[in-house]
Amino acid sequence: MRGAMNRVLILDFGSQYTQLIGRRVRDLGAFSEILPGETALGAATLEGVRGILLSGSPFSVYDEDAPRPDPGIWDLDLPILGLCYGAQRMTEDLGGKVRRLPEREYGRKAVDLAAGDDPLLAGLPASISTWMSHGDSIAEAAPGFSVLGRSEGGIPAVLRREGRRQWGIQFHPEVSHCEGGRELLSNFIVGICGMEREWSMEGYRSQIEAELRNRVGDSEVLLLISGGVDSTVAGALLLSALPHERVHLLYIDTGLMRKDESVEVMQSLRSLGATHLGMADAGQEFLSALAGKSDPEEKRRIIGDLFIRVQEREVQRLGIPGAFLVQGTLYTDLIESGKGVGKKAQVIKSHHNVRSPLVEAKRAAGRVLEPLDRLYKDEVRALGRLLGVSPAILSRHPFPGPGLGVRILGEVTREACDLLRDADAVYLEELRARGLYDRIWQAFAVLLPLRSVGVAGDERRYGRVLALRAVVSEDGMTAEPFAFDMKDLLGISAAITNKVPGIGRVAYDISSKPPATIEWE
Ligand code: XMP
Repeated sequence: MRGAMNRVLILDFGSQYTQLIGRRVRDLGAFSEILPGETALGAATLEGVRGILLSGSPFSVYDEDAPRPDPGIWDLDLPILGLCYGAQRMTEDLGGKVRRLPEREYGRKAVDLAAGDDPLLAGLPASISTWMSHGDSIAEAAPGFSVLGRSEGGIPAVLRREGRRQWGIQFHPEVSHCEGGRELLSNFIVGICGMEREWSMEGYRSQIEAELRNRVGDSEVLLLISGGVDSTVAGALLLSALPHERVHLLYIDTGLMRKDESVEVMQSLRSLGATHLGMADAGQEFLSALAGKSDPEEKRRIIGDLFIRVQEREVQRLGIPGAFLVQGTLYTDLIESGKGVGKKAQVIKSHHNVRSPLVEAKRAAGRVLEPLDRLYKDEVRALGRLLGVSPAILSRHPFPGPGLGVRILGEVTREACDLLRDADAVYLEELRARGLYDRIWQAFAVLLPLRSVGVAGDERRYGRVLALRAVVSEDGMTAEPFAFDMKDLLGISAAITNKVPGIGRVAYDISSKPPATIEWE
């Protein structure tokens, strides 16, 4: 759902830093929207836009298939800031020269500024230590540009088109270790685009609720809840925006969820007024489909396919064919599935929400709503707090779609699910009690397909082996094991073996990602 709220447009040419630019703009209290770099900049697209940022790119302006912005961009009466490739594109398009560097420049580089009274550089020192990552550089500014900053060897690093509000900079102010980067972006967003603190979650909530009411009219809406934070917050938003009798919430329980997870989500939504709140208990179906299977990718496929089949069946059963289908898709999901960004951006992974036939059919009929599709994960949590979703749900660590199915190594049985659920719950309870849960990005237990000997009284007893995982990470792409105090690990292990008799031995996984992954399968 896209509306014409006041915002800064970020044209993405495939830079690894584009997401970071979006975050920085929002940190300044301004709303940002990322669009593919080649998007036509017609009146409808530009409605509400107060300024445009052009991202970097893995391309050179001289590559044959180098992405280009709408040629009309340079005639717009809007503030424009080109970053790295954005600055080179601006230079090349307007008659300057860009040249290939003999070798790629990466890392810290000093830039000397001759700011005068330029509003982009207000308050910055005469020399800053910037962050650069580029293979080309600007050799000659385009006619009508003045050079306001140079890096070593006199290379233009900050340019301004005279008489216009158009700037290009060769470095990356969005990267946290770029000195003066935050000030420079603030000068642009707040000072030049005039966007100061226009955006707040309260304001966004009212706007998105009004948009939902408009789109939905008198129709019914249906949300499939997976138990995760995103779909739960989407449910709370629907209940806040629309008459409860038109909001249908359907929870599909795969039997592969964490302990009490399904119950907590159902309770939270009920407490927010849900009346049509159904639970499809598909646990037995999932277990039957997984019987005898131990290959991780095969298990993933079975779980994913069955989830879609159960979804379709349960939606049919509800008998509301014309309903809008609501999805808890986030901004990053769109970006990761390659939908929200420039066609040149690397597609990292496809999100299963986007691919199911049910969703595709609804989408083709214009009946899919994605009210969280402009939010980042931490913003969804903030929205959830405003909407009254229980803090225990909002603070939960990420959980993979296939759930315990990929945390039980080997065959997934009911006994294994129950045992792992119990052991995992004790582990997480201990982390909370010790004040560690919120310091860890993701923690969980893994049930290994091993039995190991132990003693109980005078007898030898064989119990299962449990591995504990706890990692710190920014985004799950890389991760480090959490550095527990040994006394915490000992306490956690004792709690698990005391409370869960089926577990005979506990091990802690001390691997980083890479080379290991966060999950074991
Ligand atoms: P890995 O194990 O690849 O995990 O280091 C990175 C993050 O992704 C989650 N993960 C998954 N999420 N379906 C999902 O929805 C999956 O098949 C899947 N595998 C891993 C994992 O929990 C971690 O947060």
